[in-house]
Amino acid sequence: MNWTYLNKDFITREEVKISPFDRGFLFGDGVYEVIPIYERKAFLLEEHIARLGRSLVLTGIKRPKKWNKIPEIIDNLVERNLFDNQSVYLQITRGEDSVRNHIPDPKVEPTLFITSSELKVNPYRLNPEIKGLAVKILEDPRWDRCDIKAVTLLSNVIAMREANIEGKDGVIFCNKGKITEGASSNVFAVFDNLVVTSPESNQILSGITRKHVLSLLSAKGIKALEKDLNLVDLYKAEEVWMTSSTQEIQPVRKIDEIIIKTKSPKDSLWFELLTSYFY
Ligand code: PDD
Repeated sequence: MNWTYLNKDFITREEVKISPFDRGFLFGDGVYEVIPIYERKAFLLEEHIARLGRSLVLTGIKRPKKWNKIPEIIDNLVERNLFDNQSVYLQITRGEDSVRNHIPDPKVEPTLFITSSELKVNPYRLNPEIKGLAVKILEDPRWDRCDIKAVTLLSNVIAMREANIEGKDGVIFCNKGKITEGASSNVFAVFDNLVVTSPESNQILSGITRKHVLSLLSAKGIKALEKDLNLVDLYKAEEVWMTSSTQEIQPVRKIDEIIIKTKSPKDSLWFELLTSYFY
């Protein structure tokens, strides 16, 4: 049985129902988080909750009544579900309105929905020698508030679908020659032992994994810069990685038709970081 949580109840996946008048369905009027669970414990939960709170403030969506109970609810849901490692998906929409209206009724109460599925082991953890990711570069088609973790992901879905049809593993978005981020991840590159990632702005999501990787680098005394990353430089990088809560750190081997000259994992920084990911 797969358990979910809706507003105030734990219900099975088969029983869960949300009205089509929910503004999340009608307008994509909602925000979300994806939280990794290892050995039934949420990883970097406080950071995810803080970002969720920020997304609510920026969209003017109310905090659900159970806001303070969210960590407890996640723990309970994780216990009910089958896997030791899970990916928790938590969505808050502005709620169910009586009619479709762009202007939200302030009386509407938000909808809180949480579900979880198996978090598969990062394949580069199981076997670091497997080929790195092949990614497609696309001009970033998204809106100007990518810092909000909004459920409105149509541009990302179209991009990933296109890349998948072409046999690619992912997408890196680029805005007038500058790398922004992946379609569901952040991007890092290494040049002469210097690690570079795009700075926080309204053009990228401030990834929890991105911040975690930056703090791992700082603890190791490895220099990292948050500065603009140009596409032309990316082709010449020693290493390129994608990071996210579900991917952790994964190396890129091919960008469009250009092969990144990869070193063996034991000589690569991405592998060193992956090895010390939980410390
Ligand atoms: N996506 N950028 C985008 C556009 C993302 O969708 C994500 C994560 C990230 C990485 O953020 P974090 O390290 O906090 O997971 C960056 C999640 C995993 C998803 O939508 O499934």
